Amino acid sequence: MTLDANIFPKENEIPEKYNKIVNQTEYLIGGKIENWTGPVQEILSPVMINNNGNLTQKYLGSHPMMDANTSLKALDAAVTAYGNGRGEWPTMSVKGRLNHMYKFMENMKQAREEVVSSLVMEIGKSEPDSYKEFDRTVKYIDDTINAVKKMYSESSTFVKSENQLAQIRRAPLGINLSMGPYNYPLNETFTTLIPSVIMGNTVVFKAAKYGVLLHQPLLKAYQESFPAGVINTIYGEGPTVIGPIMESGMIDVFSFIGSEKTAAIIKKQHNSNKPLKSVLGLGAKNLGLVTDSADLAVALSEIYASVTNFNQQRCTSLKELMVQRAVADEFVSKIVAMIDSTNWGMPWKNGVIATPIPDFWDNNIGGYKQMKFYQDLIDDALSKGAQVVNKTGNQNIGTFFSPTVLYGVNKSMRIYHEEQFGPIIPITVYDNINEPINYCVESKYGQQASIFSRNPEEIGYFIDHAINQEGRVHINNQGQRGPDDFPFGGTKLSAEQTLSVSDAPKVFSRRVIVSTKYNDVNIDLVNKVLDNNLSQFLSTRQIL
Ligand code: G3H
Repeated sequence: MTLDANIFPKENEIPEKYNKIVNQTEYLIGGKIENWTGPVQEILSPVMINNNGNLTQKYLGSHPMMDANTSLKALDAAVTAYGNGRGEWPTMSVKGRLNHMYKFMENMKQAREEVVSSLVMEIGKSEPDSYKEFDRTVKYIDDTINAVKKMYSESSTFVKSENQLAQIRRAPLGINLSMGPYNYPLNETFTTLIPSVIMGNTVVFKAAKYGVLLHQPLLKAYQESFPAGVINTIYGEGPTVIGPIMESGMIDVFSFIGSEKTAAIIKKQHNSNKPLKSVLGLGAKNLGLVTDSADLAVALSEIYASVTNFNQQRCTSLKELMVQRAVADEFVSKIVAMIDSTNWGMPWKNGVIATPIPDFWDNNIGGYKQMKFYQDLIDDALSKGAQVVNKTGNQNIGTFFSPTVLYGVNKSMRIYHEEQFGPIIPITVYDNINEPINYCVESKYGQQASIFSRNPEEIGYFIDHAINQEGRVHINNQGQRGPDDFPFGGTKLSAEQTLSVSDAPKVFSRRVIVSTKYNDVNIDLVNKVLDNNLSQFLSTRQIL
């Protein structure tokens, strides 16, 4: 398939439900939805309009570009709502907070169509994957509520040790600056924001550069579901809106999914002796290892799904394939045939796999920023001896880059080390299993690795030598975060903290104890507090 401007639609070919403009002025601070009248950022879709071969990014609308003062107002609102741990939200019973979260979940469901339509147009995610992201997120909230109920009920008891009687539970951390990624702008944002809120923290939330408008229909849901100041939203350039918040020293927990470079800059801005807890999901360069004893049909189907899903803009995608020499040619010719028959097109089209990629025109380089990055990675590999082996590979027009298989990749090439986060599929041939293991050891990342093999000895060997480099090793399946009750984390530059429906509430809270000497007077006092419901915290009630 040859790539040309006809990959993109004419304006009137965009389905009506996706052909709309949203100029967002609203933002939520201290429980009030305010209207921004200052500068705005225009939002351009990865979908381009084809006007007789002239391509322009579809205009989707705009969002506020706040100043530092407004951003600090959002911080103030979160600080006030937290009230040094004495505010309504952090002192509310867990059951009370869960009731608010149930309400939010119900309100959020009303916004399904609007959110999905923004996902499709703002980040170019296919329609089925966009619905999947929304529905998975609703389920994630429900599962988190159930995990917190279980955790709470298990701690609704007293423990006795030596001469001490104690109840051990969890308390919030304080003020949370929450920032999500563009590739899962709803789901991954909520995998930190929701548990943080449930555990009693108050939040300042900023969406990623792409995927902002999809949060607009949720503002009202936040406002109606939570007390004032529990969730506050900011928009704008990082240095303007994030810098002052971090420099204030008021943030207790920084949750961020994105690049390690941005995370490092923001962490450095924290200007306080107060400790800052970071909850981070960062880069990854997950290995897909195909040994000569692999069931090639299984390896091909898993790897194809991994390297094509959402143009490989998933942190868990297999981003470096290493194939044992004896099966390398067969594997490569089969994966190339599969990649060359991939459906390309707009994200609303049936069965489409490869879609346009969020990007912007950069005057400094005279081109699209992300497209140039992909091209540079490919050109670097080609100049060092790799080959593009699929007929449809290495083509770019506007914001569309065709899936490109690079064969003969080695460690002298950038693509071997750098996370491409896009449709480039690098393949390296290896002879000895210690080569892929060394790849994991030497990588600056450590998220996941997949081995495709039917040989139990080499599987056992690989697990023992790779597991300490990664957060998860897969046997005969592609990298993935789910199921969401499995721990998701990593080592090195890939992550700080481990998330899952049951881990995340723990990550956003700390263990605390109420204890007393075990004697008749104290037992009587504790019983009176319990019997008369005199504390929201000290309680033996269950949440059913
Ligand atoms: O981008 C990282 C996502 O959390 C990956 O999730 O493996 O379910 O696509 P996934």
